[in-house]
Amino acid sequence: MSNVSPIMNAKSTSEDINTGLTEGFRNDISKTLSEILGASYRLMVKSHIYHWNVVGPLFKPLHELTEEHYKDLFEAIDVIAERVRALGNIAPYSVENASEFAPAGKEVENLTAHDMVAD
Ligand SMILES: [Fe+2]
Repeated sequence: MSNVSPIMNAKSTSEDINTGLTEGFRNDISKTLSEILGASYRLMVKSHIYHWNVVGPLFKPLHELTEEHYKDLFEAIDVIAERVRALGNIAPYSVENASEFAPAGKEVENLTAHDMVAD
């Protein structure tokens, strides 16, 4: 690694953070934001799944609504993750709850437009 520029090995340190908030408070906020991020991510994926799979007379409005929804969520997730980083913590990177992306109860091909909106 001696040929690697130090700029490529930079690591964030807690001492670099000067927000006026204590480390414990920043960690608490980051933990809550990370939970919100996870829930938002799951909702974004679910919205995308319903965007692709909705059928019936409501296809067009629900297809458009879910597209707007997952795009808005994607932007919000980015802001939330960057806020966690700004607070001196690592943005979440685990997919341990990925099974929660799946619609609950039924296979997606058996869901009606109403089921999707309700979910
Ligand atoms: Fe699309």
